[in-house]
Amino acid sequence: MPICGLKEKKKECDMDINIGIKEEDRLNSAEGVTRLLASTYTLYLKTHGYHWNVEGPHFQQLHIQFMEQYTEMWTAVDELAERVRALGVYAPDSYAAMSKVSEIKEETGSPDWKAMVKTLAKDHEMVAKIARNALRIAEEVGDDATADVVAPRVTLHEKTAWMLRATAS
Ligand SMILES: [Fe+2]
Repeated sequence: MPICGLKEKKKECDMDINIGIKEEDRLNSAEGVTRLLASTYTLYLKTHGYHWNVEGPHFQQLHIQFMEQYTEMWTAVDELAERVRALGVYAPDSYAAMSKVSEIKEETGSPDWKAMVKTLAKDHEMVAKIARNALRIAEEVGDDATADVVAPRVTLHEKTAWMLRATAS
């Protein structure tokens, strides 16, 4: 079932939107982007937390590296959310709504610096897969604008995963 915004706001899904994409296709495309948005948001929050709490011999480097990563994702989630809205679906607007859809697990422990880097590497690999899946859906339904927004996310998360793997080894 496609995610059609928050339940209490579901009415918007019934509005007459005609952007040249069938309703079912439009909602499927929005669902792919929403999963990417929520997963990116959760990874943003985790990375910002690591920026604050990282310790050890590589503190300065990782503190800055994590800041660059969370800043990039913070900017990206806005464009993803606005793409969801352009497809006629409400974007998740609370931590609860985000975590319900996110495929990235929140941090609950106190990992050391290397565990942080390895966790983020795995998470970026996962978000790259989620972005690629959203891209596939967009391509299948002819949603070019969504494909344009999502394709660079695949590149970004694959590149970031590589850099984190290189940092951990
Ligand atoms: Fe800071």
